[in-house]
Amino acid sequence: MKKIPILATALACLLSIQAAMATEPPRLVTHDGRHALLVDGKPFLILGAQAHNSSNYPAALKQVWDAAHDLKANTVLMPVAWEQVEPEEGRFDFSFVDALVAEARQQKKHLVLLWFATWKNTSAQYTPAWVKLAPKRFPAMLDQEGKPSYCLSPFGDETLKADKRAFVALMSHLKKIDAAQRTVLMVQVENEVGTYGLVRDYAPAAQAAFEQDVPAAVLARKKAPVPGAGSGNWRAVYGDYADEYFHAWAIARYIGDIAAAGRAVYDLPMFVNNALRNPLEQPPKPWNKNFASGGPSHDVIDIYKAAAPAIDIVGPDIYNFESAQVNANLALFQRSDNALWVPEIGTKPAYGRFLYAMLGRGAIGVSPFGIDYFNYSNHPLGATATDRTLVEPFERVYRMFAPIQRLWAQWAFDGRTQGIAEGDDRQPQQLDFPGWTAKLSYRLGRFGEASWGGEFAKPAPGTEEPNGGVAMAQIAPDEFILIGHRVRVRMEPAAGTSGMMLRAEQGHFDEQGRWQMERVLNGDQVDWGLNLPAEPVMLKVRMGRPR
Ligand code: DGJ
Repeated sequence: MKKIPILATALACLLSIQAAMATEPPRLVTHDGRHALLVDGKPFLILGAQAHNSSNYPAALKQVWDAAHDLKANTVLMPVAWEQVEPEEGRFDFSFVDALVAEARQQKKHLVLLWFATWKNTSAQYTPAWVKLAPKRFPAMLDQEGKPSYCLSPFGDETLKADKRAFVALMSHLKKIDAAQRTVLMVQVENEVGTYGLVRDYAPAAQAAFEQDVPAAVLARKKAPVPGAGSGNWRAVYGDYADEYFHAWAIARYIGDIAAAGRAVYDLPMFVNNALRNPLEQPPKPWNKNFASGGPSHDVIDIYKAAAPAIDIVGPDIYNFESAQVNANLALFQRSDNALWVPEIGTKPAYGRFLYAMLGRGAIGVSPFGIDYFNYSNHPLGATATDRTLVEPFERVYRMFAPIQRLWAQWAFDGRTQGIAEGDDRQPQQLDFPGWTAKLSYRLGRFGEASWGGEFAKPAPGTEEPNGGVAMAQIAPDEFILIGHRVRVRMEPAAGTSGMMLRAEQGHFDEQGRWQMERVLNGDQVDWGLNLPAEPVMLKVRMGRPR
C-alpha cells in the first residue's frame, strides 16, 4: 500500500520532466508591425540553405549537409515531393522524411520543408504519375478556346482533395516523429505557384466563379481600381486586373485549404514563395504575359491574406541582383502583416552583400538556393561553382551572424537593427538611427580621403564589382554593433545635435552572448572612418555627447 504514493510521486515527477522537455512549437509573433519566428520560445534567425530540386533522396543528403555545414547554415530547406511520398494512390512512404529529420538532428540543423505537389514553378511535374495520367479526374486549366494549359486547375476538386490528403498525411507523420524535438520549423505549401501564358482558368466552373460577386473578405483587403465599384463581380470591381486577381484568389483559396487542413493536425508556420514580377513597375500594370498570373506577387499579397489565412508569409524568391530591384522587393514584401522571409536568393557572388540589407531590415531569415555539392549549377540564375567556392559569398556573412543569431533576432524584433548593401551606382548611403547617423561610402581605401587626389582618389583594388554592406544594431542609445565588409562607416550625431565617437572595439560575442573585445581601434584605424575590410568584422562602437 505504501508504494502507491511513491509511485504516484515518481510518475508526477516524470510527467513534469517530460512536459519541460517538450519544446514549444515554432511560431510567428508580431509586435509593433515587426515579426519574429519563435523557436523554443525565443526569436530565431534562419540562416538557411536551400538544396537543389533533386536532392530530396536519402543518398543525396551528404552533398547537402557538406555544403550547408561549409555555409554555416543553421537550417536546411528541403523539398518533399508528392510523387515520392504517395507513389501509388493511398500508399504513403515517408522514409525520406524520416532519414532527413534523423540526419538533420545529427547535423544539428533545423529544417524547413517545401511541399512540391500540385504546383512546382507552376507545373504539375512533382505530382505522382497516377495524377499526371488522369487528366479527366485532375483537370488542367482551360483557355478561352477550351484548350488545356500545362497548369493544373485550382478548380479541380479531386486534385485539391488528393493533394490535401497527402499533405495531411505528411503533417500527421511529422507530428509523430517531430513534435517532441521540433527539428522542422516551417513548411512551404506548393512552390512558385501561378500560371505562365494564361491569365486564369476559363473552364465552366471557373467561369461561373468569375461571374460571382467578389467575396467580402477580398473586398475588405483589396481596393477596387475601378472608380465607384464598391462591390459586384470580379470584372466590375477590378476591371483590367480582374482576371489576374481572380486567379490569385482561386490559387490562394486552394493552397489555404491545404495549409489549414495540415495545421489542424500539426500546427507549424506556413508560407508560400513567389517568382517575382518587376517591382519597379509602379503602379503595377495588369498582367500581360510578363509573370506567372495568380502567383503571390506583391500586388496580390492582400488577396492571399484574405483567401489563405492559414498561410503566414508570402516570401520573395530573389533572382535579379540589380540593387534597385532587390531593395524594392524587400520593401514590398516586408509588411506589418507579412514577415520578411527570403526563401530563395541566387548564389551568384553579387547576392552575398544583400544579406546585410535583409538581416538588417529584420528578416526572420534568408536562404540562398542551390546549396549542395552535386555537379549541377543553375547558372545564370546562380553561381557556376559547384564546390566550396559556391558558398563563400554567403558564408562570409553567415559566419558573423551564426554565433549571435538569437541576439540579432531579438534586436531585430525590438526594432533596433538596420542594414544596407552597396548600390549598383556605388554612391554613398546613410542609415538613420535615433540620435545618430551612419554615413556609408564605398570603394575607398583604408587610409586617407579621395579628395586628396592621386592614388587616394583611385577606387581601392578589389572593388571593381559592388560588394560592400553593413548591418547595424543600436543596442543602447549611444551604442552600436556593426557587422559588415568593404564599406567606410562614419558615425555622426543626428542633424542639429553634437556628439562624437568615443570608442570602437573590434571583437565578437561568446556563446553566452557576452561581448569579447579583441582590440580597440584608434589612430589610423578610425581617422578616416571605420573602414571595414574585404572580410567581415564585428565592431562595438560607443558614441557620446559633450555635456
Ligand atoms: C525557383 C524555384 O522555386 C526553385 O525550385 C528552382 O527551380 C529555381 N527557381 C531555379 O533554379
